[in-house]
Amino acid sequence: MLRVENLSKRFGGVQAIQDCTLQVKEGTITGLIGPNGAGKTTLFNVITGFNKPNAGRVFFKEEEITGLQAFQIFRRGLFRTFQITREYKEMTVLENLLLIPRDQIGERLWSAWIRNRSMRTQEKKNIEKAMEILRFLEMASKKDMPAKYLPGGEKKLLELGRMMMVDLDMVLLDEPGSGVPPFLQNKVMGYIRKLSHERGLTLFVVEHDMNVIMNLCTPIIVMTDGTKLTEGTPKEIRSDQRVIQAYLGEPDTQEFEK
Ligand SMILES: Nc1ncnc2c1ncn2[C@@H]1O[C@H](COP(=O)(O)OP(=O)(O)O)[C@@H](O)[C@H]1O
Ligand SMILES: [Mg+2]
Repeated sequence: MLRVENLSKRFGGVQAIQDCTLQVKEGTITGLIGPNGAGKTTLFNVITGFNKPNAGRVFFKEEEITGLQAFQIFRRGLFRTFQITREYKEMTVLENLLLIPRDQIGERLWSAWIRNRSMRTQEKKNIEKAMEILRFLEMASKKDMPAKYLPGGEKKLLELGRMMMVDLDMVLLDEPGSGVPPFLQNKVMGYIRKLSHERGLTLFVVEHDMNVIMNLCTPIIVMTDGTKLTEGTPKEIRSDQRVIQAYLGEPDTQEFEK
């Protein structure tokens, strides 16, 4: 589904991604882990067109997408989630689903969206679709509530729900568990699984919480110093000495060795 070949990205003197090669298979929930600063977020940004690479190539559904703009990549069915920003917290839950936030996908994509989907004439259909998603998330009763009043985990669900308003083939999730209170963790993880199983969405997930990643993802790709260190099943990764070594000195090491 996704293939990254010899990708590199530099920020001034910092080599954020260094000759990185990896693949994500269709239909998987593939995990991406690695110490802080390993380049995971940068990799996501380069894949989805929010950063331009200095070298290397990216292929999505066998077509090269290297260097395309975020809105062009979005149109091909690949996007990443973003946190709900302050502005959107003021809007209701339902309104959040009806708008693809323009500052997150860029003005050009926004106008392309309006033009292509002719949102005004489609509004009724969109509301139906949004309500269907809210029922799926068990949040229908909160449709008129300003998003800012949702607990952290339900904000996360809403972020994921927004991705369901558009027909994507693959979504990149950067830390879907962060800020989610423990009692909502299972619901968020359950929803991610549902997206994978029922919609056939391919997911590529960066997550700090080892429990989450080990329970949710197969395979898991480990990234260190801007490149892929190894890849394997949760069991293989957990017992890989190189991986444990890479995490030495990281606060998560204890967690990892459990
Ligand atoms: N916009 C940027 N400008 C300068 N340096 C950056 C930028 N984004 C990331 N970096 C640097 O690139 C490296 C990788 O960062 P990042 O991709 O955020 O890692 P991770 O998500 O794995 O923690 C880090 O050294 C970080 O400081
Ligand atoms: Mg990051």
